[in-house]
Amino acid sequence: MGRAERVVLAYSGGVDTTVCIPYLKHEFGVKEVITLAADLGQGEDLEAIRAKALTAGAAESLVVNATETLVERYAVPAIQANALYENRYPLSTALARPLIAKLLVDAAEQCGADAVAHGCTGKGNDQVRFDVSIGALNPGLKVLAPAREWGMSRGEAIAYGERYGLTFAVKKSSPYSIDYNLLGRSIEAGPLEDPWNEPLEEVFAMTAAIADTPDTPEYVELGFIAGVPTSLNGQDLSVLEILKQLNTIAGRHGVGRIDMIENRLVGIKSREIYEAPALLVLIAAHRDLESLTLTADVTQYKRGIEESYSRLVYNGLWYSPLKAALDAFIHQTQAQVSGTVRVKLHKGSAQIVGRRSEQALYSEALATYGSSDQFDHRAAEGFIYVWGLPTRVWSEQLRQDQ
Ligand code: ARG
Repeated sequence: MGRAERVVLAYSGGVDTTVCIPYLKHEFGVKEVITLAADLGQGEDLEAIRAKALTAGAAESLVVNATETLVERYAVPAIQANALYENRYPLSTALARPLIAKLLVDAAEQCGADAVAHGCTGKGNDQVRFDVSIGALNPGLKVLAPAREWGMSRGEAIAYGERYGLTFAVKKSSPYSIDYNLLGRSIEAGPLEDPWNEPLEEVFAMTAAIADTPDTPEYVELGFIAGVPTSLNGQDLSVLEILKQLNTIAGRHGVGRIDMIENRLVGIKSREIYEAPALLVLIAAHRDLESLTLTADVTQYKRGIEESYSRLVYNGLWYSPLKAALDAFIHQTQAQVSGTVRVKLHKGSAQIVGRRSEQALYSEALATYGSSDQFDHRAAEGFIYVWGLPTRVWSEQLRQDQ
């Protein structure tokens, strides 16, 4: 008796998910495996991947272009949330997982499948993100995770596949584990497992080494309307197009590399390398525009919301009531976040050097130290008397005690 009759498997074309196909059929007793590969702007040959799944025994092989959805529904809210896990990682992998979960659930419902499957191991965050998201979207579906159970090394997995007639390209296998979409690349394992080892240049694909970057800085102007990126250097573009072009521009200046030790949800600390040139520049620009257009209290309160939001997305709770509540807060703050931010890209740094907005709360007449100053300096005296009153009373009390 099988655990499921018909399964939709998240498919990448890699060794693990390919081996999952015969494994689900022969070890789990699944009758039909339908694979689903998502195009998330990773620039892979998805036709080849589609064919590979059929060769490996899939009954049907689906390819879904979801790049625009990734950008519009997952990246834009994250930019508005200035989402950086542990203050650094812009969640480029984490944002794609709830979307893939949604694609799996939609496909399962359309094909009348009783389960979905993924190739995640038991050590990472991604298994949590898939399982929790799938459970939130359709609690009636079973989730199968063969790689979490099979306990095979990579060599053993290849040998297992070969038993069922699969062949694997004999390219020198990379020691790294890499996840890639339009938002960024995540690289781990191999020599990176020693946190003292500097990452070799070979791990990077979206960003240039500083030695190879131009000697002259390059300026970009990013326009936002209500917190959504809408233009690049004065040209109106979709967010997808802005991300694509900005990845190239910022990447050639070596902008967007992160090397960090991060805390996984499963309790392990891991060493991660990320490249996310456009996403990091957009978040920095957006946050800067907020400092120009939001009141002090909203800006400062939102920082705490952003922290919670980032942790929650990292921890797989994209489809959860708290996430929806935080979204509502963030959405409410964005109406006035319109304007243009000027960024200087040079030798690995992206510096905000200018910002302007018709909604700016900044007033030069109030801020200036020049002769046009409108600020009433005498009003400060009474304000300080009241503001400092509690600490003066406290200090006098303390002195009496001594
Ligand atoms: N640590 C990151 C995260 O949890 C990236 C994991 C990506 N997977 C990989 N094979 N490198 O979002």
